[in-house]
Amino acid sequence: MINEIFNPILKDRLTLLRRKETPSKIFRQTVEEIATFMTYEVAKNFKLKEIEIETPIKKCKAKVLAEEFVIVPILRAGLGMVSGALKVLPNAAVGFIGLVRDETTHQPIEYYKKLPPNISGKKIIVIDPMLATGGSSSAALQMLKNDGAKDIVFVCIISAPEGIKKISEDHPEIPIYTAAIDERLNENAYIVPGLGDAGDRIFDTL
Ligand code: PRP
Ligand code: URA
Repeated sequence: MINEIFNPILKDRLTLLRRKETPSKIFRQTVEEIATFMTYEVAKNFKLKEIEIETPIKKCKAKVLAEEFVIVPILRAGLGMVSGALKVLPNAAVGFIGLVRDETTHQPIEYYKKLPPNISGKKIIVIDPMLATGGSSSAALQMLKNDGAKDIVFVCIISAPEGIKKISEDHPEIPIYTAAIDERLNENAYIVPGLGDAGDRIFDTL
């Protein structure tokens, strides 16, 4: 299920990411900021529970987040979103999945996995700026399911229709949150118009 987030601030910042002249320093800061905005938007659907607290005036009932959270960036580019997501969910654990696309086949190659224990009862927020063919994110979601995760959402900044279709087919129960749905993929499986290579622009490795 695809959820495109319509927020004027988000769309404005996204334009900064798309501009080819935006330097890595600003690109990185903006990815972090967008991750914060998007996590707020995703959190609109989070469950609350009631607890009893005591204010300086009296005892009362109050609400707190009901779930425990695990943020899982897909390396490398997802790393750029971690600090932004943690601003909204500072108590979240962080797990890591390392995948890189083979440049010829565009298939994801796994090179790292480090997840917190007992993820089955937690809400897992997978983050990656780009959903292109969907190969990387579909593989990451499957790795999490294989480890017992049952409640997963996927947050990406820009998505292509091809990637949305793949995730919707492979993982129909997992909601996708995106700030933009672009036109298509080009012959190199890059998103058009997109923003180029997110990892290279975040880490200045172009
Ligand atoms: C990028 C991006 C996604 C993936 C999307 O990572 O961050 O993980 O490509 O493409 P897909 O939907 O076709 O799989 P990349 O493989 O370039 O690695 P990097 O983040 O280390 O640069
Ligand atoms: N990965 C990126 O970083 N950008 C794209 O457009 C596609 C995959």
